Amino acid sequence: MSNETKNALVFGASGGLGQAVVAKFLTDPNIDRVIAVSRNPQTEDLSAPWISNTRLIWIQVEDYSEDAMREVVTGLEKYQGCVSRVCICHGQLHTDHIWPEKRLEDIDGGAMHDIFHVNAIVPSIWLKLLHKIIAGDTPCPVAVFSARVGSTGDNRLGGWYAYRASKAALNSMLKSFAVEYARRAKNVKLIAFHPGTTDTELSKPFQASVPKEHLFAPAFVVERLAVIMEEAEIDGQLSFVDWDGKTIVW
Ligand SMILES: NC(=O)c1ccc[n+]([C@@H]2O[C@H](COP(=O)([O-])OP(=O)(O)OC[C@H]3O[C@@H](n4cnc5c(N)ncnc54)[C@H](OP(=O)(O)O)[C@@H]3O)[C@@H](O)[C@H]2O)c1
Repeated sequence: MSNETKNALVFGASGGLGQAVVAKFLTDPNIDRVIAVSRNPQTEDLSAPWISNTRLIWIQVEDYSEDAMREVVTGLEKYQGCVSRVCICHGQLHTDHIWPEKRLEDIDGGAMHDIFHVNAIVPSIWLKLLHKIIAGDTPCPVAVFSARVGSTGDNRLGGWYAYRASKAALNSMLKSFAVEYARRAKNVKLIAFHPGTTDTELSKPFQASVPKEHLFAPAFVVERLAVIMEEAEIDGQLSFVDWDGKTIVW
């Protein structure tokens, strides 16, 4: 692979924000190829005739077991040193049998396990496996979707125990990754990104209480994210920022 080629990797690509990230990268003239990974098939919105199958490569995985993820990353070895953007978009707040806790009695060990797996463990395994692919001379900001509610300092309301704690755990993992990546992949900048309340399946059940001007469209959020990634200084540090580029307290 020529070192001139710039590739973007998007993990969890079929979610509301994941799809918007893929669409944004496909319009970026500085990105030659977008490689999207999801459990779902390529979404129809991303099947427009102008998107050639060399510009968008969609990899469908059965699940996010570590073996399946390792197989994906092995397939990405041909892009080693030619990756200029990574977005990790996994996240879960509710399912048909899990609901964010309002009080102590709602805490359930099994649900916590599932939420931690999606929000903290899956992104961490990607970062464990990816470092050899993304290390090199190409500056590579890596945005991992976190959430403001993962901030311990900002937690005034409580509740949403598992989601909050899993995002705090994600942030803690990212901090340790930043220390090691600074030694082993100096071209990488890690960003824990809070998108703001965005109109996707994840926020749908909670949107009624959100003022209209505070509910963002995914396309707006990823425009902001693209600027944040473009302007990020490759400084070996982890940044925790919101859609507006403002730093969030840990
Ligand atoms: N929307 C908001 O208001 C909001 C606010 C703050 C933070 N965030 C964060 O932003 C990120 C994107 O969320 P979204 O709003 O786009 O949500 P979404 O539309 O519900 O998308 C869910 C995402 O999580 C992945 N996912 C779902 N179940 C999974 C599982 N069992 N194992 C592994 N991955 C799974 C999906 O990957 P597949 O492509 O494989 O399905 C997809 O990337 C998340 O980290 C979320 O916590 C969102």
